[in-house]
Amino acid sequence: MSTQPAISILLTSKFPTVASELLTNAGFTITSWEEERPMTSTELLEQAASHNALLCTLTDSIDSQFLNQCSHLDIISQFAVGYDNIDVTEATKLGIPIGFTPNAMNDATADIAFGLMIATARKMFYSHKTIITGDWGFFKPTANLGIELKGKTLGIYGLGRIGLEMARRCKGAYQMKVIYHNRRHNQMAEQELNANKVSFGELLARSDVLSVHCSLTDETRGIFNKSVFDQMKQNSIFINTSRGSVHNEKDLIAALDAGQIWGAGLDVTNPEPMKPDNPLLSMANVSILPHIGSATVEARDEMARLAAENIIEFYKHNAVPFIVNAEVLVEKGTS
Ligand code: GLV
Repeated sequence: MSTQPAISILLTSKFPTVASELLTNAGFTITSWEEERPMTSTELLEQAASHNALLCTLTDSIDSQFLNQCSHLDIISQFAVGYDNIDVTEATKLGIPIGFTPNAMNDATADIAFGLMIATARKMFYSHKTIITGDWGFFKPTANLGIELKGKTLGIYGLGRIGLEMARRCKGAYQMKVIYHNRRHNQMAEQELNANKVSFGELLARSDVLSVHCSLTDETRGIFNKSVFDQMKQNSIFINTSRGSVHNEKDLIAALDAGQIWGAGLDVTNPEPMKPDNPLLSMANVSILPHIGSATVEARDEMARLAAENIIEFYKHNAVPFIVNAEVLVEKGTS
């Protein structure tokens, strides 16, 4: 296949301009959704019907119904490392390659996990609110006490590229011991950080800070539930910067209320956006951010570049540099 000026790409959001620049320079026609809200499923269907490819993101529901109605799409390029909004099995059946943007946000997301850990350990978000509400009061020797992190044990659930960056930060700043639970060994973490792979039960029993970095799958959906929080240390901190559906929010609130765990730092919730009256927002030991893990200029520009390159390379060289379902290209004999 060669690049045809007639090939049209639908950009489902306002992405960093590097994406449209690269695609336009490569000769594609682009249509960009300019509203501040995500497209509805109907709008997405209507628009996608007249385009050859999609550059989309995690707020777009690329489900089986959509895919079957838009099976003409040559490629779907996701602007994110996570792709749980896409029915990959169905896309693969239909022969549609799915691109994604790993690595671009490793540092940005690890910074948010690390920041949430400190903010939670020192009740920063809550303390900040007391100034605004006029409740600063006097210096009180026994009030607003947090906990320290030096020498504690960091447990990583799903130690991949982002988890490794979080572990590096924790080791460097606080000499934390690193344990992790994965299916496979992470040789780099073991060699560089002396990290130990442990069973899930051991991760829960030993972690002072438990940071979640897995992707959302059938296996991980809701895995952090009551029975899991019950097995965690009473003074432990739960951090989630992956996907909100990995933890059960009702069970998390109950565990915090009961003092079963010490605190929680979340960049992801279920649903998103979180409602402003959510009880987690008024808890002293909880820090919540509105899913800003990858929100740096550097990370978002790189994600836009990778997402655009996935499309360009597909049409130019029949290859997708970062692909979720490589078997599709193998089957087509195009990889
Ligand atoms: C953000 O959450 C991503 O998956 O890139």
